[in-house]
Amino acid sequence: MKAEDVKKIVVMGAGDMGHGIAEVALLNGYKVAMRDIEQRFVDKGLQRIEESMAKLVEKQKISEENKKAMLGNIEIFVDVGEAVKDADFVIEAAPEVMDIKKAVFQELDKLAPEHAVLATNTSNMSITGIASITKRPEKVVGMHFFNPAVLMKLVEIIRGDKTSDETMQVAYDVAAKMNKAPVMVEKDSPGFIYNRVQAPTSIFFGAILDRGIATPEEIDAKMRQMGMPMGPYELMDYVGLDVAYHSCLYFAETVSPDYKPTKWLKEKVDAGTLGKKTGKGIFDWSKGRPAIDLAKAKEDFDINDLIAIQVNEATKLLEEGVAKSPDDIDKAMVNGGGSAFGPFQLAKGIGYDKLAEKCEGLAKKFDTDVFKPTETLKKGKV
Ligand SMILES: NC(=O)c1ccc[n+]([C@@H]2O[C@H](COP(=O)([O-])OP(=O)(O)OC[C@H]3O[C@@H](n4cnc5c(N)ncnc54)[C@H](O)[C@@H]3O)[C@@H](O)[C@H]2O)c1
Repeated sequence: MKAEDVKKIVVMGAGDMGHGIAEVALLNGYKVAMRDIEQRFVDKGLQRIEESMAKLVEKQKISEENKKAMLGNIEIFVDVGEAVKDADFVIEAAPEVMDIKKAVFQELDKLAPEHAVLATNTSNMSITGIASITKRPEKVVGMHFFNPAVLMKLVEIIRGDKTSDETMQVAYDVAAKMNKAPVMVEKDSPGFIYNRVQAPTSIFFGAILDRGIATPEEIDAKMRQMGMPMGPYELMDYVGLDVAYHSCLYFAETVSPDYKPTKWLKEKVDAGTLGKKTGKGIFDWSKGRPAIDLAKAKEDFDINDLIAIQVNEATKLLEEGVAKSPDDIDKAMVNGGGSAFGPFQLAKGIGYDKLAEKCEGLAKKFDTDVFKPTETLKKGKV
């Protein structure tokens, strides 16, 4: 199958990601079916799409007529068989629970047309594991959109052990047709590309607090001074400290025990102070977004420390064969977050030798192998 053959996309789940992915598909000319387990959930998902499109009309990004035509291209279902009967491409966005994913894929395998590709939007789960429940593992692929799906450009296309080249290419091309920036992930490895390159920063920022090197405000102020719209600690609060905690546990199990949640993070989660959603986390959110005093910026904080550990982690993805090229990693990092440059673009400017030296120092200072420079970083040949 080719991307041109994909006319109808079915989205399983109408929650935060599902309704967003359905909207992106509609905005780019696809016919869409959206399915959830109860009528009120699909109704709510459709309402969210309508509201979002109304905003696009207000901003003059689409016309009222366009909006009407696109909303005419979506059908909503509770019955799985009805939803998938003429699907060419299915994207699953059900809760991140393996038993649910497997149940959904078993049903999809039974009920979706034989030619249909079955994609999962899982953030962390094994594509190979999900595919193994079906009789078409070569047609199962990871398709990791970022939140909010309508705005974020990156889509990671993840290969399971049995995913065929054809399926990878169709998923890549469908994402490109959805006006996204797809990147192929050649191995279904923890955190794929974007979250894996970010992961060591959680050890770094955790250790800064545990060791009293700086306060969250001092670091956030410094990062804001350097042009980041939101500092790392505020971002953690924004996403939820429980999310950060669980992702540390996941990386501790799958990548290195050094990812174990730090003392301060565990204390916050145990106390139920989870950030924005509870009104208090690292910062106080009871009166809205915390006011960060930029005058408190920690002047001697060296941004190259942060770049060094991210470039180093990115070289691991090349060594492990998770990403095909430095350019793919740069593309993922630029389109998945707000930065203007990817890690390898930055490394060229700073110098690999300098970054390797930094990593040596940081590995000793923070007593973790995660920061130890890889051979690739030391040689500076990517
Ligand atoms: N929220 C994010 O930031 C984000 C980002 C990237 C990927 N993801 C991944 O996307 C997936 C969905 O996450 P979400 O944040 O949209 O969750 P959500 O809880 O907002 O939505 C999940 C929806 O799936 C529905 N559902 C449950 N069982 C189902 C079934 N059998 N068939 C169809 N729908 C079913 C639920 O009723 C719910 O409406 C997860 O795998 C998550 O890891 C989430």
